[in-house]
Amino acid sequence: MPDASHPAPAEPPWRVGVGWDRHRLAPVAPAGEGRPLVLGGVRLESDLGPVSHSDGDALLHAVTDAILGALGLEDLGALFPDTDPDHEGRDSMEFLDRAVRLMRDAGWTLANLDAVVVLQSPKLGPRRDEIRRRLARALGAPPGRVNVKGKTGEGVDATGERRAVDAHAVTLLMRADRAS
Ligand code: C5P
Ligand code: MG
Repeated sequence: MPDASHPAPAEPPWRVGVGWDRHRLAPVAPAGEGRPLVLGGVRLESDLGPVSHSDGDALLHAVTDAILGALGLEDLGALFPDTDPDHEGRDSMEFLDRAVRLMRDAGWTLANLDAVVVLQSPKLGPRRDEIRRRLARALGAPPGRVNVKGKTGEGVDATGERRAVDAHAVTLLMRADRAS
């Protein structure tokens, strides 16, 4: 119980969250079971794409989980079970939109996001700004607060052998009333 000598600590005005996701890659249909490769809501030219119940946007899944994590909520899979036929082929922007609404409703805003996509090929570099802008729009944040980087898997392990795409995201949220 808080008392005069041990007052309840003030709620911190910051919250950090982390998210990670992996999708298996396969030749894009009709050659295989892969869906078109979409990362951060941006479609990339690729012979391989994610095998997934939803659209398989690993970057959006990692970002969504980073926001939910910062809010102390359950993860994406708990909110949108991949056993639910409603989520078949679903645009993952809808998942992110839901997390952003939860963030706003709880009085938080994005301070910044940093993310890494581990993908042997194609290179993200040429589309990086487009992905940053698309994410920033979804997050209601200026593009300068949103960063995304591509890294190869150096030819080894699942990402390096083009068997998987991984995404890592870290978010910092701040109290919305401190943002201006
Ligand atoms: O993985 P590695 O360090 O060899 O990647 C070299 C650079 O290539 C990265 O720093 C990044 O700028 C770019 N890259 C990319 N998209 C990828 C992989 C790497 O833009 N899928
Ligand atoms: Mg996923």
